[in-house]
Order: sequence, then structure tokens, then C-alpha cells
Amino acid sequence: MAYERIKVQSLHDKVITGEEAAKLFQNGMVVGSSGFTKAGDSKVVLPALAERAKVDPLKITLITGASLGHGTDGKLAEAGALSKRMPFQVDRILRNKINAGDVLFIDQHLSETAELLHNKNLPQVDIAVLEVAAIESDGSIVPTTSVGNSATFAALAKQVILEVNTAIPMSIKGIHDIYQAEDYPRRNVIPIVAPENKIGRKTIPLDPSKVVGIVFTNELDSPAYIAEPDIKTTAIAKHILNFFENEVELGHLSESLMPLQAGIGKVANAVLTGFIHSKFRNLTMFSEVLQDSTFDLIDAGKLDFASASSITVSEECYSRVFDHLDRYRDKIVLRPQNISNTPGLIKRLGIIAINTAIEFDIYGNVNSTHTSGTNIMNGIGGSGDFARNAYLSIFVTQAASKGDAISHIVPMVSHVDHTEHDVDILVTDFGLADLRGLAPRERAKVIIENCVHPDYKEQLFDYYNRACERGGHTPHLLEEAFSWHIHLREKGTMKKHR
Ligand code: COA
Repeated sequence: MAYERIKVQSLHDKVITGEEAAKLFQNGMVVGSSGFTKAGDSKVVLPALAERAKVDPLKITLITGASLGHGTDGKLAEAGALSKRMPFQVDRILRNKINAGDVLFIDQHLSETAELLHNKNLPQVDIAVLEVAAIESDGSIVPTTSVGNSATFAALAKQVILEVNTAIPMSIKGIHDIYQAEDYPRRNVIPIVAPENKIGRKTIPLDPSKVVGIVFTNELDSPAYIAEPDIKTTAIAKHILNFFENEVELGHLSESLMPLQAGIGKVANAVLTGFIHSKFRNLTMFSEVLQDSTFDLIDAGKLDFASASSITVSEECYSRVFDHLDRYRDKIVLRPQNISNTPGLIKRLGIIAINTAIEFDIYGNVNSTHTSGTNIMNGIGGSGDFARNAYLSIFVTQAASKGDAISHIVPMVSHVDHTEHDVDILVTDFGLADLRGLAPRERAKVIIENCVHPDYKEQLFDYYNRACERGGHTPHLLEEAFSWHIHLREKGTMKKHR
């Protein structure tokens, strides 16, 4: 049965075990791997490489689509097998190694990696490890639950190892739309004018002579953990939905809004779930990840079409989708991430982008990646691709956390991912600040008034007022700008810092 998925007869000889595949790697190699928000990742070869590295030390540079599942990043990091990692991760063990300086990490816009590889601004990929549902008779490959950077790795890697995953139904073929823009300097327009446009092929082209090994696997993706909406996320969702309703009443938006992008996580989930019982209809998504709420909205008849680069869902949702793929086939598409996240398309389609901040400041600059300006959490992911180019760029966060010892609105962000110029709307559980058309001094007042936790309002107004006395277009007291973070480090709270 498994061999039937390899339709190039001559490749049957290439079937090997994970351990044999792990021996194909050499110290210093650049490895490109499938996997995007835990979907469609390597389940055999990279874990086998981590095992090998425990007894036979070697270090690689690992480039993926985004995060890997099954703790693979952690296993590789723990085995000392990673010298450099890009463009995104969410693994606790790897994060600690990065913050300890043991693994170098390049935190990259998710649309960028493939571009840098095609333009030869990164070293060539030595080996690609790609999960596939099947190998077609022309050598092309059928991706699984994500496309990520696989088309780029297949085109540019010197050698390729394929993981044929028999747990993926063959009916998955056709939900992917594989298109790559031409190399510079003669790049053409990417002909997508609506989320549902399919412009490419169903499979990823691959020269079979590059295949050095094929491994079988029969394992599902790590399921997404979906936190139930709580008081804070429900409040944030309510503020956003009220804002949209108002925009419709004002005639700025129709009840279909504009195509939505929502970052992964509990707030995005709460917002999207909120649409189910709203008056909005004929919604569309042009995002990077399809989550449970996407399929809930399709089932509720609210969402007409969803475009992304991966499907990352809970166990329950996984069987709902893959046992009834025909129900969803015409309503979803998975694209390479340098298409799903292309700045030009995000601009053209007029996306409403909703992403999460770790903290933002009184002028609207957003930090999505670092705690206290120093330690990386996950990475920028696609939030920058979308925020910069969106029709409306919304950032959400809880106003305070850790028993309210941390205020997520601070005088100055300790790391900047999204500048004030790329941020339209800020939302916390306490309220929403619409920054459109506001100058810095106006922004600060609206942000402090609407978004800040009551315990921090006076403290933040005090900072702002004293900064204004000193003057400036964007008033600051530089000697105090990070005092909240310093106070948190020294006293365990941002409160009463003076
Ligand atoms: N010092 C120490 N810890 C801090 C801090 C500070 N100055 N500021 C915030 N934190 C902590 C919070 O207390 C919280 O800790 P906890 O996890 O132990 O509760 C944590 O940082 C932030 O968590 P939370 O507010 O619950 O956010 P989240 O789990 O929803 O994730 C991001 C938020 C920003 C980390 C996440 O959305 C992300 O990685 N975004 C970037 C990628 C992205 O946006 N992709 C978009 C498309 S998928």
C-alpha cells in the first residue's frame, strides 16, 4: 500500500529507515525542512537526526517554514544539533538555548526566507527533508497539511529526503496551489485578486534524481491546543466585533468586511469564534494558518473561503476536516508561504490583520517577540508581513498579566517589531484605541485612556505628562523609558516604580 504512493518506480529503491536517513547529514550542512505551525513537519528523519547527534555530534543550520511539532526543535536543540535556526520557532527548550546563546536564531518575516534563498542571499540548502502524501509519476510531490517553504526547498536543495506519510488521505491532493514568482529582475505580477483564486499547480515540481532517500511514516501532526475563550479574550473579541459593527454602520466596511488574517492563539480564536453569532456574513480569510475556528465558521455558513499556508487544528477538528475533505475542498487552499504572506497581495486584497503583541507603548509601537527587550518568545512570524501591508492592522494583548505585576502597555517598548506607522488599532480587555488619523500626542491619550489596566493608568499618565513638559513630537523621558522593565526585574512588579 505504502509503495503505491511512490509512482516513480525507480524511486522504490530509495526507501530507507529514519536511522539510515539520519546518516546522510554532515556537520555544517544547511537543512531545509517542511513544517509550518506544527503542520506537515518531518516526523521521522529530524527526530532520528537528533538521536544520532547524541552519540555522533554534529551541528546543522535548520531552515523551515515555521514551527515544528512533536517537540522536534527541542530534541534537536537538546542534542546540540542546531548551530543556527530560522525563521520561527515556538519550542520551550529551543527558546532557552537561543536565549542562553547556545543556538543562533534568525527571526525573519515568514514571506522572506524563500525570497532570500532564491536570491542567493542565504547559503544553498544541502538537504531538504519534505513530508509528502505521495510522489507522482512525473516526480512531483503532493504536500500534506502545509506548504510552507517546501516548493523553494524542492527547487533549490542539492539533495532531497522525502517522508511519505501514509496517515494523510490521498484525497488531500488538490487543496494546494503551488505557484512561485519568477526570479528577479523580470518578476511578473502574481495574479491573485481574491482569496479564492487558484493560480498554480496541485503538486510541487521535483527532479527525482535529487532524491537520496525515502522514509515512510504514519503519524499525524501534533494537535493544536485550543484554549477556551476566557474573560480577557472574550472582552478583547467583543471590543473588536463592536468596532467592526460600527465601521459597517458608518459605511466604511460591508458585512463581509475585508479578507481576514488572524494570528494563531487564544485571542484570535475568540475573535473568530465571535463571528459565528454576529451579523457578518460571506466572510473570507487570507491568512497563514487555518485553525479550528476557520472550519467552525465554514460549518456555520459564515465563511465562504479561506486561503493560508497550513492547517493547524485540534485532534477533533483534524478528523472533522480530513474525514470530510469534500465538504471543505472548494472552500480552502494552501499556498507557499511566500505567496500567502506576500506583501503585495496583502496590500492588493485589503486584509484586516489581527495579531498579538507581548507589549505596546503609549505611541503605538508593538513588541511581539521579546520579553524585557532581551529574551525571545517565539518570533515575528507573519505578523510583520501582514501588519505593514494591511488595510487595517489590529494588535491585541491583555492589559496586565502575572497577577497584574506586568503591564502590557509601557512607556517605551523594550523591542520593536511593528512601528507606530504600521499599527491602526490596539485592543486590550479594557478597551480599544483607534489610532487612525492621530498624531503621537493624541495617540498616547487614547491608548492610556482606553487600553491600560486601571492599576497602571495614573502611573502612565504621570509619565506622559512629565514627558510632555519636556517637549517633543514624541515626548519621552529617556532615563525613565525602561524603568518599568527594570522595576519588574528588580522588584517583581511594574507597579509604583518611582
Ligand atoms: N517580562 C516578562 N514576561 C512578560 C513581559 C515582560 N516584560 N511581558 C509579557 N510577558 C509574558 C506574559 O506574562 C505572558 O507570560 P505567560 O505565558 O507565562 O503567561 C507572556 O509574556 C505572553 O503571553 P500572552 O500575553 O498570554 O500571549 P500569547 O500566549 O497569546 O502569545 C505572542 C503572544 C506575542 C508571544 C504570540 O502571539 C506570538 O508569538 N506572536 C508572534 C508571531 C505572530 O504574531 N504570528 C502571526 C501569525 S500566526
